[in-house]
Amino acid sequence: MPDGVTPGGPRPLELLALALALAQEAGDLLLRGRAGTVAAESTKSSPTDVVTALDRASEELVGRRLREARPGDGLLGEEGADDVGTSGVRWIVDPLDGTVNFLYSLPNWAVSIAAEIDGTVVAGVVHAPAMGVTYTAALGEGSARNGAALAGSTVTDLSRALVATGFGYTVERRASQVTVLTRVLPRVRDIRRMGAASLDLGAAAAGLVDAYYERGLHPWDHAAGGLIATEAGLRVGGLHGRPVSNDLTIAAPPGLFDALHDLLAADPPADSD
Ligand code: IPD
Repeated sequence: MPDGVTPGGPRPLELLALALALAQEAGDLLLRGRAGTVAAESTKSSPTDVVTALDRASEELVGRRLREARPGDGLLGEEGADDVGTSGVRWIVDPLDGTVNFLYSLPNWAVSIAAEIDGTVVAGVVHAPAMGVTYTAALGEGSARNGAALAGSTVTDLSRALVATGFGYTVERRASQVTVLTRVLPRVRDIRRMGAASLDLGAAAAGLVDAYYERGLHPWDHAAGGLIATEAGLRVGGLHGRPVSNDLTIAAPPGLFDALHDLLAADPPADSD
């Protein structure tokens, strides 16, 4: 029995079914909201780090539905929910990943919902209704894009790798990310910046890009997408053999991971959160 699955406890596929239903309901709410006027309501870490009323409405909806369906579970959400719960199950929710894309009516935005049991992510959904794309995964069950099984890239040569990445919102973080990028860009096929970390991880799982890396992610950015990428055969990890953290998230084919990691780790950026 894999880590995170307890005898008699909830099964990953049960949690996945609930995550999918909630992501679809929240996605519908966002799509309806997107049809009206969307304005940046406030900012978080910097003036470019916006939050809309719909980010909050989506998290509120998911939280309410989770309390109805599974009252003892914990919830960690980007817009402030942080409750450990009593059941051993905790949900990790980005109610609207890719908020800036959403604000500009670009389609790359998603609702990302993961369920962990005793700290291990066992189910994940990244639902992007404006793209017509839904990524899903359950621990040990593989991952899928709109129901079709996924396998990530098997590229081993950095110079042939199309690599997605993302940038944080603070000036200091961006300055250090540019420094890293000047090292990476000459060594890879090309770089893509699509604007939603959960969807970047889904794209890596689907082989639409070969690999993805980003510094500064939070659990709600990578929990669901990380499982989706892992279940598609990619290696997902952080710096120096450590798990993914705010310091670094890499998703890459196993034969490419170390080369990409070493390039990224060459001189640690000076910024910190
Ligand atoms: C952001 C997006 C972006 C990534 C940032 C995230 P948000 O999430 O995923 O692609 O580069 O690091 O913070 O703010 O749109 O939920």
